[in-house]
Amino acid sequence: MQLTLNSPLDMHLHLRDGEMLRTVAPLSAHSFAAAIIMPNLVPPVTTVEAVTAYKGRILEGIGNEKFDPLMTLFFQESYDVAFLEKAKPYIHGIKLYPAGITTNSEGGVSTIDSAALNMTLTAMSDLEIPLLIHGESNGFVMDREKEFVPVYEDLAQKFPDLKIVMEHITTKESVAALEHHENLYATITLHHLLITLDEVAGGMLQPHLFCKPIAKRPEDREALLSVALSAHPKVMFGSDSAPHPQYAKENCGCAAGVFTAPIALPVLAQLFDTHGKLDNLQTFVSDNAQRIYNYTPPQKSVVLEKKAFTVPEKYGNVVPMYAGEEIGWCIQSVS
Ligand code: NCD
Ligand code: ZN
Repeated sequence: MQLTLNSPLDMHLHLRDGEMLRTVAPLSAHSFAAAIIMPNLVPPVTTVEAVTAYKGRILEGIGNEKFDPLMTLFFQESYDVAFLEKAKPYIHGIKLYPAGITTNSEGGVSTIDSAALNMTLTAMSDLEIPLLIHGESNGFVMDREKEFVPVYEDLAQKFPDLKIVMEHITTKESVAALEHHENLYATITLHHLLITLDEVAGGMLQPHLFCKPIAKRPEDREALLSVALSAHPKVMFGSDSAPHPQYAKENCGCAAGVFTAPIALPVLAQLFDTHGKLDNLQTFVSDNAQRIYNYTPPQKSVVLEKKAFTVPEKYGNVVPMYAGEEIGWCIQSVS
């Protein structure tokens, strides 16, 4: 059995920089037509010059692959209309991180409320620049995303014309919020459709499955599966593939992030196939994102085949999800 996907998109991707960029960028560029590139480098991407230079390094890193890096800025409260007008042609969104909530987010915002961020969010709304949010409070780790939902709702209400993407949602509360506000959208990762906290820490600790937000409860995974498998019009695939070198994961003080980019499409096909929903995968991995972001990707056909494939132990010095294990689908060809 085969499935052809047209121009699959990854709407939340970490490509890093330097040697790591050169290892991981070609893997995404091979099977995806475009991706939203996260700006949490060190230092974060906060200027137009940094955006264009980073995009140049990505294009250099992917070689001859046909792939569109959709660039983002790292949100700063100081962004004003003049700056955003200048930046708009170079970006597809601005990513807001609560300060210190995840990898390389120290320069994030300390108070996230509609009044404090009014100047920048009004300008983004007027200029139609989407706001991408890592939505977690600094409360108890399992409650952080749930506690952030009122913040999403306040922003959605105060800025009704601003497109707000709840990034990598992991809870049933976030899924419910999608229904309450027209301007709230969401990305969903592969790993949060597959695992719960049990797979991370229920047996021996699995560092390669540790990420932010942490995987939650079975009922949360069910809520995510229901909107992803039905290709709900407000959800998009965003892998949040977040590579770290093996030593940083298998360490006392494990870095957060799951590396899924090279296996994402075959494993999604396997998941959708298992649930009898293969017909919805195209919408989940491309069509919804095109509509939400008002974006037309380059043409790329990815043929997936239902055939066993053993995931490599490593790509460079990065250990992928399912390293060394057999998965039921593979990438047959890309054109
Ligand atoms: C991401 C990273 O490593 O940059 N880590 C993660 O666990 N997802 C940051 C992020 O998206 O939170
Ligand atoms: Zn991320």
